[in-house]
Amino acid sequence: MKLPVIFHGAMHAVLKRWGNSTVRKRIWDQEYGEGHWLDSEHIERPSICDLIDKYLPNRGTLLDLGCSDGLIARTQCGLGKYTGVDVSKIAIEAARKATDKNKMNACEWVCSDISTFVPSCNADVILFRYSLYYLKKHEVGMTLKRYRRYLSGNGVFIVVMDNPKRHKWVADLIRKNFDIIELIDDNPVVLVFR
Ligand SMILES: C[S@@+](CC[C@H](N)C(=O)[O-])C[C@H]1O[C@@H](n2cnc3c(N)ncnc32)[C@H](O)[C@@H]1O
Repeated sequence: MKLPVIFHGAMHAVLKRWGNSTVRKRIWDQEYGEGHWLDSEHIERPSICDLIDKYLPNRGTLLDLGCSDGLIARTQCGLGKYTGVDVSKIAIEAARKATDKNKMNACEWVCSDISTFVPSCNADVILFRYSLYYLKKHEVGMTLKRYRRYLSGNGVFIVVMDNPKRHKWVADLIRKNFDIIELIDDNPVVLVFR
């Protein structure tokens, strides 16, 4: 009985990374539809919100790539503009539903694959919280370099990753190709860079 569950999980892990956008969308929607991932109100310490506050100017612009149901939009104050992007339609619908009326005007929700999404404006902070490592290895560098064009003058990327050993290759790639501003070498690993 256990083997099919493990097999199912392993298949999903492979397809989420190696599938094309349609396959990724289907797998993530299936997992969201089965009740995974939603209602996660967990915020790591040091709080990602403190870190965003540090780098986001008042009324600044935040691009949240792999936003799920928009936890960051709910917890962040003083946002000028927030764009949440996720490949799962179910996650984006949940985010829309959970958006506070007062924040409605500041928030934009887009269902798209982050490897191809094109922002409509520059951002002060581009956040990948537990999402960047779902891309294929060769997509990670290309995707970061492409989004770098959408960082505003003093803008930064913030990348949060669990499992530092497994995702060491992502941290190494970032260290090699970008200017590190802040590194919290813990679990989760947090990198701030441009
Ligand atoms: C582990 S969840 C993290 C969600 C959220 N950032 C958080 O911190 O709670 C990963 C999210 O990334 C999204 N995701 C994964 N691969 C993606 C891709 N290629 N394009 C857009 N979203 C993606 C998933 O749908 C999921 O919502």
